[in-house]
Amino acid sequence: PRQLERLYEGKAKRVYRTDDPDLYLVEYKDDATAFNGAKKGTIQNKGVLNNQISGVFFRMLEERGIPTHFVELVSDREMLVKTLEIVPVEVVVRNIAAGSLAKRLGLAEGTVLSSPVLEYYYKSDELGDPMINDYHIRALGLASPEQMERIRDIALAVNSIMLEYLADKNIDLVDFKLEFGIHKGAVILGDEISPDTCRFWDKHTREKLDKDRFRRDLGNVEGAYEEVFKRLTGKSFS
Ligand code: C5P
Repeated sequence: PRQLERLYEGKAKRVYRTDDPDLYLVEYKDDATAFNGAKKGTIQNKGVLNNQISGVFFRMLEERGIPTHFVELVSDREMLVKTLEIVPVEVVVRNIAAGSLAKRLGLAEGTVLSSPVLEYYYKSDELGDPMINDYHIRALGLASPEQMERIRDIALAVNSIMLEYLADKNIDLVDFKLEFGIHKGAVILGDEISPDTCRFWDKHTREKLDKDRFRRDLGNVEGAYEEVFKRLTGKSFS
């Protein structure tokens, strides 16, 4: 399909309409932001790496029965996806305490949670993405109870599948964020799955292989994203 006008530009991606009414084109950028836009920078080749990494995850999840917006990669930093109407709720799944959960509940980073934790955040830049629950989602009309049941089931299934898949690559899946949308009436997984949106730790050394290296100025940010690419594809990035 042919690329048409830009519909949206976010912190890390641009989305374009195409001449196929069922497809959008997503372009991944090297720009990085953290702390709701307060920290800005670029990570060399991040767009290329996150496009490929997301492609690997989406393809793997589709093979295991998860409905996603992914169609195919079309260039090093672009993928074709199904059109969707975004559900304005960010869904976070956690297996190990880190980030905002560690802070809010006073848990040491690295504390293993005895069962997965699911959290919802209202997508709103002005409000700084406040945490919400099923009642807020229902009262604000952000999604129906049926859609939320489906979202929860898919999010927990994605967690189980990713945990097992990544364990084989010596990666601990600490936590991650998913976004969902409605395509032809059905809930599907959208957005991206990458070191920007997940916390990945090396299983043995617990080295951080994700955006926390950028957030916390730990250095070797590009190297961490390249390492994830290498573990997923078996190929080194060049
Ligand atoms: O900051 P927090 O600990 O709540 O983040 C949980 C997970 O969600 C992390 O993997 C983080 O990368 C991801 N996240 C995200 N986009 C946001 C907020 C969190 O991808 N706006």
